[in-house]
Amino acid sequence: MKRIAVLTSGGDAPGMNAAIRTVVRMGISEGWEVFGIHNGYAGLLDEKLSPLGARDVGGILHRGGTVLGSARFPKWKEPAVREQALANLRAHQIEGLIVIGGNGSQTGAWALSQMDFPVVGVASTIDNDLACSEITIGVDTALNIALESIDRLRTTASSHKRAFVVEVMGRNCGYLALMAGLAGGAEAILVPEADVDLDHVAADLQGAWSRGKQHALVVVAEGAKPNAAGLLKHFEGSRGQLGFDLRATTLGHVQRGGVPGAFDRLLATRLSAGAVERLRDGTNGCLVGLLGGEVQSTPFEVVMQTTKTIDFNLLKLARVLAV
Ligand code: F6P
Repeated sequence: MKRIAVLTSGGDAPGMNAAIRTVVRMGISEGWEVFGIHNGYAGLLDEKLSPLGARDVGGILHRGGTVLGSARFPKWKEPAVREQALANLRAHQIEGLIVIGGNGSQTGAWALSQMDFPVVGVASTIDNDLACSEITIGVDTALNIALESIDRLRTTASSHKRAFVVEVMGRNCGYLALMAGLAGGAEAILVPEADVDLDHVAADLQGAWSRGKQHALVVVAEGAKPNAAGLLKHFEGSRGQLGFDLRATTLGHVQRGGVPGAFDRLLATRLSAGAVERLRDGTNGCLVGLLGGEVQSTPFEVVMQTTKTIDFNLLKLARVLAV
């Protein structure tokens, strides 16, 4: 192998830059040329790529986002689009591709690898919804941002004897909400994976009020039914009965924009080094993730057939601790 390329795709995640840096410098140490593809799969189609040297990825380790840019690119599902992208890769004599991204991005990587092109994925999404990696790049930083916001909201909630509904990201996965709720001492946690009983939520809030709590927190995953807006709407007519006055905050993209913490920099570095090693050793068509605390690769086919779930025991534990 003489020349490889790297791209970041889907929602950016803190730690992606550490991953790019590792791919470039590890690739150089293998004696390869490394190309960066800009704006994910869209850039591959438009031939937006440039060679990256060791200095080009200097000073990025501590920066959030991705210096390569990222994009959602639904057109990648079209076979003709992928054919053209493959032709572009071949025209530039690129012999292997590393895709840093989450679920959708790795589905796209699998599609390309099925066209007989060596592709290795690196598990990266704040949602932690990608199977075959216990944790993905960006989760830890996003979780800490959510937690810091929850801590701040608790301060103002206590001052006013209010309840706050905090909505966190995660698409259809409740991992961020569960962990932020547990670490933040929430009175209730709503996730898409579990049915929500609104009478229970009301009872949790009323109970917290009657037990003399100064505040109450409900952490809601954006994919939960209802989400924060739905919950607020539901309680509109019965606010007086909850005890607390109710406010809602949606954290949104704030969670994705952070400076990567030590955990994400290290995870990104380890997984990406593993991805380069796999390309070198002729293992491809796989996702590199963390399993049992070790860097492991799993064939894309297995990843796509596996559903990741949250730990329901932690959901129960959070309820017990909200006494
Ligand atoms: O996948 C990461 C994520 O931040 C999800 O949590 C969220 O649902 C989605 O991306 C938002 O996507 P976009 O940035 O395209 O609005």
